[in-house]
Amino acid sequence: MVKKIKEEKLKLGVCYYPEHWPKELWEDDFRRMKELGITYVRMGEFAWTVFEPKEGTFSFELFDQAVDKAHEFGLEVIMGTPTATPPAWLTYKYPDTLNVDQDGISFQHGARRHYNYNSENYRRLSSIIVTEMAKHYRDHPGIVGWQIDNELNCEVDVFYSEADHIAFRKWVKEKYETLDNLNQAWGTVFWNQTYTSWEQVYLTRKTVSNSPNPHHMLDEKRFISDSAISYVKLQADILREYAPNKWVTTNGMFKHLDNHKMTNELLDFFAYDSYPNFGRVIEDNSKKPLRDRKWSWNLSVVRSISPNFAIFEQQSGPGGWVTRIEQPTPKPGQLRLWTYQSIAHGADLVMYFRWRTATKGTEIYWHGINDYHNLPNRRVEEVEQVSKEIHQISEKIAGSSYQAEVALITSYDNEWDGEFDKWVGPYISKSKDAWFKAFQYKHVPVDALYVNQETTLEELKNYKVLVYPHAAIVTKEQAELFTRYVEQGGKVIFGCRSGYKDETGQTYMKAFPGYLAELAGVTVEEFTRVAPFEKVPRLKFKDSNDIEAIDFNEVLQPHGDVEVLSTFTHAHFEGKPALVRRNVGSGSCYYFGGVFNLELASLLIDEVGLNNYQDQFELPEEIELSIRHKDGNDYTFLLNYSEQPQEILLKKEYRDALSGKRVTNKITLKPYDVLVLEP
Ligand code: GAL
Repeated sequence: MVKKIKEEKLKLGVCYYPEHWPKELWEDDFRRMKELGITYVRMGEFAWTVFEPKEGTFSFELFDQAVDKAHEFGLEVIMGTPTATPPAWLTYKYPDTLNVDQDGISFQHGARRHYNYNSENYRRLSSIIVTEMAKHYRDHPGIVGWQIDNELNCEVDVFYSEADHIAFRKWVKEKYETLDNLNQAWGTVFWNQTYTSWEQVYLTRKTVSNSPNPHHMLDEKRFISDSAISYVKLQADILREYAPNKWVTTNGMFKHLDNHKMTNELLDFFAYDSYPNFGRVIEDNSKKPLRDRKWSWNLSVVRSISPNFAIFEQQSGPGGWVTRIEQPTPKPGQLRLWTYQSIAHGADLVMYFRWRTATKGTEIYWHGINDYHNLPNRRVEEVEQVSKEIHQISEKIAGSSYQAEVALITSYDNEWDGEFDKWVGPYISKSKDAWFKAFQYKHVPVDALYVNQETTLEELKNYKVLVYPHAAIVTKEQAELFTRYVEQGGKVIFGCRSGYKDETGQTYMKAFPGYLAELAGVTVEEFTRVAPFEKVPRLKFKDSNDIEAIDFNEVLQPHGDVEVLSTFTHAHFEGKPALVRRNVGSGSCYYFGGVFNLELASLLIDEVGLNNYQDQFELPEEIELSIRHKDGNDYTFLLNYSEQPQEILLKKEYRDALSGKRVTNKITLKPYDVLVLEP
């Protein structure tokens, strides 16, 4: 079953922390929220000690009053389970609940997320608080749903407590059954790592030259993901038992967690926290950086989990902790733009983080829509504008689906394995960035697709074209699936380092690209990394003579009916194939022996022929195009990310869905402005 949020209208919300403010402010806050057109208020997620001031003693007074008050003003509350921030009394009494780093040093009380998922005490105490909250709020008409914990695996995504080592031992025992199987899977014969009893097995620990066994590392990530999911299950089961009729979700997308599996098995839909400002401050020396527009990729991944999703935290001001993160304020219009960025990608609910900037604690510089002074400001005005104008499109957009005929593929296995493997991991993210950028600048909407052993042909067939830049781990079954897809008319594009690893992360004793060789019609004759001091080889493709074959080159040997589309130049393998196409059935497979860059990805988009809506629009690169479709109608979002006005050409007549005016021909989109068009 597809897990998606089911709203009949687009909704807005805010994150609010009643425990941070004097009660006298609440009424005015809720009233102003209502006036602003806010529907949802999220609260509770960090307030464990308020709910349970000492072990076994529960107090709901403060939140009862806050929920009642919010409800009185017609607001609906999303309640958070407060387990991201364990109480001081808890970690003091039960130090085994604390997370530990790889060097064996415990994280301590003072920040957040310092617990581990496997401590029996933490699981027991979490069950108790969640049960008490679920029972207490089960019938409250003001509460619509639950957020479990907050941002699992954020800030820390590895766990090495005693409880984790013990749970890992159990996990590998279940997975491998015998030590012999485990030793095989981890290739422990190498460097004499063979385990002769289960007690010797730990999560990775400090090793010389920071070089733990790579297959062990891959399983460690799978284990962390399973641990987080089992912790979410613990809470979800309680919430469903004691508070049925309310939805259950969790927020955030962080490393070492299979969010697809978690959502499919346990949640009603997935919620994401969108902070595009990170894209404005992260150093990006690549050509034509996407900056805040890069967040459209994250939103696309979220959409692959839940086609219609919620943003539980939408950035609404400059972001900063006392100790880290120094971000500028959103420019006039940018807060509105980011809201539409989320909506354009499938968000039917957008909640701003946070109602008002905190006056105390680590996040006094993480600004909400209201400032400390609580006086009118530009950010609140912008939210008001959004709130007023989305009424026009609210019912039309809610529940609509994003249109894409191409998907950019990845897998958790390849991401997790690649994280530690410098011979493929960096290429995965580099090529993904290049492709996404090319799709963005060419106005070709793209989906994200995560594949695993359960992926079906039907899922692949949703797309005309698939791009799987560095499919290192590919099983025989997956290779067959891609072959069926191509035979039946699909086009698939692979890059170097594909098909050479099995599910343990060990390499096949096969010519690269392993089980994909037949489909691609090539084997790799030889390969090399491009050393930083070397001249970068080039390739000729289409009318471009001089594309850099960056980072890694595979010299391809074609077999049979394969067309060579491009050859290398400026290398000792000059003239040898770099890019080939093989037509199979009614589709084709492209194989490129390298890491993709913007230029090559752009040319390949032209080559495979994807709709970039040129019959309807002429758009500058600065504009993102997204289409949501419902009841036979396309709703086109045109988003201007630049600080310059942008000229666009509408080749047909449309209705500007936000203003209601008919529009056609030349239009100027102001800096950070947004246009939503309907037929
Ligand atoms: C999120 C988190 C919020 C707040 C915000 C700003 O990651 O869920 O609680 O910390 O970032 O830092």
